[in-house]
Amino acid sequence: MRVAIVGAGYVGLVSGACFADYGHEVTCCDNDQDKIAALQRGVIPIYEPGLPEIVKRNLQQSRLAFTTNGDTAIRAADAVFIAVGTPSRHGDGYADLSYVYKAAREIAPELDGFTVVIIKSTVPVGTGDEVERIIREVRPDADVAVVSNPEFLREGAAIQDFKHPDRIVVGLEDPRAKSVMAEVYRPLYLNAAPILYTGRRTAEMIKYAANAFLATKITFINEIAELCEKVGADVQDIARGIGLDNRIGSKFLHAGPGFGGSCFPKDALALIKTAQDHDAPIRIVEAVVAVNDARKRAMARKVAAALGGQIRGKVIAVLGLTFKPNTDDMRDAPSIPLIRGLQDMGASVRAYDPVGMEQAKPLLQDVVYCDGPYACADSADALVIVTEWEQFRSLDLPRLKGVMRNPVLVDLRNIYQAEEAMRHGFSHVGIGQNAAGGLAADSEKKG
Ligand SMILES: NC(=O)c1ccc[n+]([C@@H]2O[C@H](COP(=O)([O-])OP(=O)(O)OC[C@H]3O[C@@H](n4cnc5c(N)ncnc54)[C@H](O)[C@@H]3O)[C@@H](O)[C@H]2O)c1
Repeated sequence: MRVAIVGAGYVGLVSGACFADYGHEVTCCDNDQDKIAALQRGVIPIYEPGLPEIVKRNLQQSRLAFTTNGDTAIRAADAVFIAVGTPSRHGDGYADLSYVYKAAREIAPELDGFTVVIIKSTVPVGTGDEVERIIREVRPDADVAVVSNPEFLREGAAIQDFKHPDRIVVGLEDPRAKSVMAEVYRPLYLNAAPILYTGRRTAEMIKYAANAFLATKITFINEIAELCEKVGADVQDIARGIGLDNRIGSKFLHAGPGFGGSCFPKDALALIKTAQDHDAPIRIVEAVVAVNDARKRAMARKVAAALGGQIRGKVIAVLGLTFKPNTDDMRDAPSIPLIRGLQDMGASVRAYDPVGMEQAKPLLQDVVYCDGPYACADSADALVIVTEWEQFRSLDLPRLKGVMRNPVLVDLRNIYQAEEAMRHGFSHVGIGQNAAGGLAADSEKKG
């Protein structure tokens, strides 16, 4: 089957590489010339474990191609995926659909024979209708079916998620598209991954409902964590205690500094806007966004509190900048408001991230970027763990203490036990735990 993908970003590139691995003939098109030139040389512009090998293998076997001009590939394609970005529109929080509509206008003139145009980008309900309208306006004679096929992959585990999805959602109005979609996903279908066929609008809503629900779950446990700190309970035990209930489930119950990333913040906001426009406001998601924004800002105050309140002139070492491990994606990362908050309070910031520092540099100025966790901690008054990269789980605590000016560990991911940190001479502040090891708590006790 011949597949064209418009947009070779995270989703387009992973989808294209995996479809090629299934044996389809895939062309990924992107209007970013540097990105395409790099991909043609086999250089992958994003950090995603396992992706370079798949791209290389399929380039060698000529099943995967990259181009800035997709016209020929679109004419030949049975299925054309739209995987361009849908960021928050500046100023109002609606999803910016200009890239999707532009892609539809570019695809339309090239359609040749029955073609299924599939929207893989996350788009508000009704966008499929508009894409179909645009295509019919540009090419009234086109034989086309427009399908919604939202993507659920997680950055950092994208290949695994794409090849072993919990489900594939396909929203269609034209029954002819069903056999094409079944063929596109045939290898997964053989693996018995459930394919859920729905109406197009329903499929569009499923994606937003899923992300809003997960964002709500995270925010719920974050608020429980806040209460735990006040009442002397432990949020990790609570997460386990409720997560073992099958009706709740244990995933997305890790309290932390607030959610970020390229999807949850913008998708929650876009859902809020859609709901308001339809006079069906989703108050719970409105609260989630407000609580999460406030929480991310509050993390700087939490670090200051761990140092007794005043951090002017202090040096804070930050470990982990990306919004989660195994990605170099900095979009809406909690590290950004944290570091800006620390700088606003007069602290100097040193930082280390295993792969995200190049992406972070344009976003976070006046930061000393370091070569590793120990160089980062050098002469610091506090060490803050923001992203739970695997390598931060087994830090040499005595060595860290040896290089720091003041052994304060603020663990925003709860990857160290307070007792363990304290045994090595650290004052420890976690999330949703009784902050007995923190300086603030110590001074309260002394006072
Ligand atoms: N990143 C994720 O984890 C993830 C997961 C699920 C869904 N999504 C959704 O998938 C969509 C894409 O996200 P992403 O993270 O891959 O975005 P991205 O910004 O990484 O990639 C988008 C790409 O589209 C290209 N592009 C834009 N307009 C184009 C055009 N007219 N022709 C050709 N190329 C064009 C850009 O140059 C860019 O390379 C978004 O709607 C997002 O919400 C993302």
